[in-house]
Amino acid sequence: MNDTDLQHSFANLIDDLASQRWSLLELFAPEVLTRELAAECRKRERSGELSAASVGRGSAQQVQEGIRGDRIQWLEAGQSEACDRYLQLMDDLRLALNRELFLGLEDFECHFASYEPGAFYLRHLDRFRDDDRRTVSAVLYLNESWQADQGGALRLYLSDGREHDVLPQAGTLALFLSGDMPHEVLPATRERRSLTGWFRRRGTDVL
Ligand code: OGA
Ligand code: MN
Repeated sequence: MNDTDLQHSFANLIDDLASQRWSLLELFAPEVLTRELAAECRKRERSGELSAASVGRGSAQQVQEGIRGDRIQWLEAGQSEACDRYLQLMDDLRLALNRELFLGLEDFECHFASYEPGAFYLRHLDRFRDDDRRTVSAVLYLNESWQADQGGALRLYLSDGREHDVLPQAGTLALFLSGDMPHEVLPATRERRSLTGWFRRRGTDVL
C-alpha cells in the first residue's frame, strides 16, 4: 500500500469506528509483513517465550483458563524488524485517530497471542475497572486460509443486540472501542494467532 492508499484506509477505518464503534480492514498490513509476524509468533512459541495470559490487573492478576486460554508475549521496540515495522504502522494509525477523532491517544501496547485448538476467551470488555486508559482495541490476525467452519471467530456484541463474527484471517485488522464493545473469542479447531493491542490515552490512574 502506498501512503495515499494507507491514509485512505485509515479514513475508512476511522469513519466506521466513529459511526458504529468497530471497523474492519482486510489486508491491512502488507502480506509479507503479516507472514513475517506470523513466523515471529511461531518462533516465540517454539522457544517457550509465550506464557499463559492472565485476567485482571496489578495484584488482582490471575491466570484463569476458564475465562481466557491464550498464551501471550508483549512486543517491545527493537526486537525484530517486522515487529518494528508493525509498531510504526500502528503509530501512524494512532496519529490519524488523534487527528480525526481527538482521542488524545498517547501510546500503543500489543502482544502476540496464540490460542491452541479449543482455547477461548469469554465475553468481556478490554478495560480494567481501575484503569481506563485503553481506548481503542486493535487486533491483527496472522492465520493463512482460515475457514468459517474452523471456528475461532471474534464475536462482537453490537449495541442493537446483534452479533458480528470476524474470522481471524491473515491480514485482517479489527478495531473497536475498548470500553464499549463486549466481545469474545470462540474456540477453534486449529491454532489461532494474532497481534492484539490497545491504543491508550493518558490515565487518571488512582493507584
Ligand atoms: C483480547 C481479545 C480478540 C481476538 O485479547 O482481549 O479480545 O480476536 N482478543 O483475539
Ligand atoms: Mn478483548
